[in-house]
Amino acid sequence: MRTPSVAVIVVAAGSGDRLGRPAPKAFVEIAGRTILERALDGVFGMSSIPQVIVVVPADRVEETRLLTEGTSARIVAGGATRQRSVAAGLSALADGVQTVLVHDAARALTPASLLDAVAAEAARTGHGVIPGLPVADTVKQTDDSGRVAADIDRSRLRAVQTPQGFPRELLVAAYASAGEDYTDDAALFTAAGHPVSFIGGDPLAFKITTPWDLQRAEQLVTLTAVPSVGLGIDVHAFDPTRPLWLGALYWPDEPGLAGHSDGDALSHAICDALLSAAGLGDLGSRFGTDDPRFAGAHGEVFLAAALRLVADAGFSVGNISVQLVGNRPRLGPRRSELEARLRSLVGAPVSVSATTSDGLGFTGTGEGVAVIATALLRR
Ligand code: CTP
Ligand code: MG
Repeated sequence: MRTPSVAVIVVAAGSGDRLGRPAPKAFVEIAGRTILERALDGVFGMSSIPQVIVVVPADRVEETRLLTEGTSARIVAGGATRQRSVAAGLSALADGVQTVLVHDAARALTPASLLDAVAAEAARTGHGVIPGLPVADTVKQTDDSGRVAADIDRSRLRAVQTPQGFPRELLVAAYASAGEDYTDDAALFTAAGHPVSFIGGDPLAFKITTPWDLQRAEQLVTLTAVPSVGLGIDVHAFDPTRPLWLGALYWPDEPGLAGHSDGDALSHAICDALLSAAGLGDLGSRFGTDDPRFAGAHGEVFLAAALRLVADAGFSVGNISVQLVGNRPRLGPRRSELEARLRSLVGAPVSVSATTSDGLGFTGTGEGVAVIATALLRR
């Protein structure tokens, strides 16, 4: 493999005091995946795969190795301050690396395009390069008494993000001679006498610091996640000797449906749609249509089991749409009740509709019903 000319040091060794979770911040999840994993998505999404060095708390090194198995990431133990963690990362640089990007894992949603842009600009200029965003709020300075001491001209202010990119030799030397603790790598680099220039930052590179930031990240991830659609069809024959259960509701004075369970084709179609959207197969293969545990079981038993599998696979239900094809029962009079019942079982909107098949086929001759369902899931 060609040795990369760019290395990205992802610092993830902080404790996350301001986030206030028991786990170190980088190991807290955003919608099912850790902050660190999401930060690494951006890094491994770069146009050319860099050397990746991940700096984590010493007691998380093994866990991180497992988390990054199958990638080329090198895992090292961090230090008591961010600066020491970066220094630990620098000691793992591979030969051949010429440009080093230092990146906060806490900026979990940073797009690969920003990492690419910083790397390219640092390599082109030989300067330090940092992403910055204009400051939108008016900025004032206070004195000790809490009064306004000065108005600051915000037109020249920039809120600074990571990744910050540097020529390797200069950064390593600057770190080796750094006497004090600096707030970021660019400050340390500037103090060593080297130029640092800005490129435009990206709002998605915001740092997750407080619970509010985590919530914002969660919302962004959920909004932009491509939903997953599933389809389910179930068919049951009428058996007038049985009671009718459909959509986890009892339908008095209607012919029932045949089946090993209670024959609730509507609930079963929804289960198949849910499992299919999550890539988990179907009801038959999951629960076995003649499994004694499900003999005579009502729809809600299957729905609960399917929903548990879907949730365990990391999905939540967006909505479900289901259509009954058949002459009876007439759904219209109980449609709202049916939708409310299913909504309470599924925990998401369920819309139900019905149609006849114009006298054609088994649904038209009244031999049975067919039900078609679609489910939309989000990871
Ligand atoms: N960091 C690190 N080693 C440290 C301290 C911080 O690697 N000793 C990393 C953090 O993991 C984070 C980045 O530096 O990705 C930016 O730091 P910050 O957002 O302050 O994270 P924490 O220090 O973890 O949070 P807090 O200050 O709230 O404790
Ligand atoms: Mg900190």
